[in-house]
Amino acid sequence: MAQALDIIILAAGKGTRMISERPKVLHELAGKPLLQHVLDTAKALDPARICVVYGYGGEAVPQAMADMNIQMVKQEPQLGTGHAVQQALPHLSESHVTLVLYGDVPLIHRETLRPLVKSAQDNNVALLTIEMERPQGYGRIIREGGKVRRIVEEKDASPEERRVTEVNTGIMALPNQFLPSWLAALKNTNAQGEYYLTDVISLAVSSGVEVVTAHPAHHREVLGVNSKGHLAQLERMYQQEQADKLLDSGVTLLDPQRIDIRGELNCGRDVVIDVNCIFEGSVTLGDGVKVGANCVLRDVNIGRECRIEPFSLLEKASMGVGCRIGPYARIRPGTELADEVHIGNFVELKNSQVGFNSKINHLSYVGDATVGSKVNVGAGTITCNYDGANKHRTVIEDGAFIGSDTQLVAPVTVGKGATIGAGSTITKDTPMGELTLSRAKQISVSGWQRPVKKSKE
Ligand code: UD1
Ligand code: CA
Repeated sequence: MAQALDIIILAAGKGTRMISERPKVLHELAGKPLLQHVLDTAKALDPARICVVYGYGGEAVPQAMADMNIQMVKQEPQLGTGHAVQQALPHLSESHVTLVLYGDVPLIHRETLRPLVKSAQDNNVALLTIEMERPQGYGRIIREGGKVRRIVEEKDASPEERRVTEVNTGIMALPNQFLPSWLAALKNTNAQGEYYLTDVISLAVSSGVEVVTAHPAHHREVLGVNSKGHLAQLERMYQQEQADKLLDSGVTLLDPQRIDIRGELNCGRDVVIDVNCIFEGSVTLGDGVKVGANCVLRDVNIGRECRIEPFSLLEKASMGVGCRIGPYARIRPGTELADEVHIGNFVELKNSQVGFNSKINHLSYVGDATVGSKVNVGAGTITCNYDGANKHRTVIEDGAFIGSDTQLVAPVTVGKGATIGAGSTITKDTPMGELTLSRAKQISVSGWQRPVKKSKE
């Protein structure tokens, strides 16, 4: 049986160039901390243990990650990548293999990592390397007769070594049995006065352990974030990758450069998404859904053939088949729409159920309401759900017609098939099938004269 896997994620660095009080690994890419991206990838490899080495920023990193089953290891002071791995050593099992990842290298793919782990399980040290035309700043891979002998850091390298274009990404996998002796043998007699993890490579070679290399499928996988500029670049790369996946799965994107997915977007067949839409959390779009330009959808489930018109904001809601939403609709948490519901412009819904084929087409607030099927809510209708202390429910039964500019003062029930005259303030339950209205009778004053401006003499 293959040895179990331990994963160490280095995340102690300060990230000076982020110009921020926040530890670098807590900055967000696609709405999720950099470190969380790495953790999610790490978890997908099914490890026995994950250790996060943190340092800069005090307890901010462990606090942000508090809900998870991860060993947090403090490194203080930060004396180099080798020193960082040393701090995690007490948490590793001698019979396992270890994969070293970086909290600020968020786009690494699990498929790139699996072969590294496999090599370590075959008792090799496995290094992830890439070819770079301009390798400045990176550790160089020094080979002899094709075999890796050691890594030399830029600052310690001779001019000849600096010409090497194969560089260390930092990501490596090793059998744990060697770690105690190799880590103990690291010295900080180098240009940076640090304990370099990279020095384990020459130690492996002198112990007769083979060092094998692998490359990532894409260069972006090994890019680190050191500045807001890098963060923005990686965000675009990540979004491009998401957009490509959607296009590959048959989704129509009017412009793949203008979509942002901060979470998971699942689409059925023949989904069309116009420009500048943002999808957050977990969003599902059924077959044939069309999302207009400039919409934000957060944790929503949209049924088949729904149309979301431009500039709508939908959050923690679900809708059935063939609904029409917006433009300029705001659907707030707890909203559940049945099939063929129409919600029009400048309508706000919150914590409400709306039944089959009901329509709330213009300028309304419907909160804490249960609306039946085939109800028509006229323009400017407001459920007065809040008395200043408590929230109350409004019930509108099937087939009711609410005239424009009605206030429904909850708790209140509008009976089945009832009609409410426009401009009413409804404070008591209204009987089914009847007309209820509460406005002053209209009068006309005959012979009344409009005032006229006095002429100056
Ligand atoms: C390191 C590698 C270099 C490689 C490069 C790739 C070493 C000695 N060098 O150099 O060969 O080409 O990465 O980007 O490993 N960290 C800690 N604790 C520390 C020091 C660093 O947790 O004491 C973390 C940092 O937060 C960072 C990562 O380790 O995420 C890399 O550290 P950094 O100092 O940036 O390494 P490089 O000098 O870039
Ligand atoms: Ca460094």
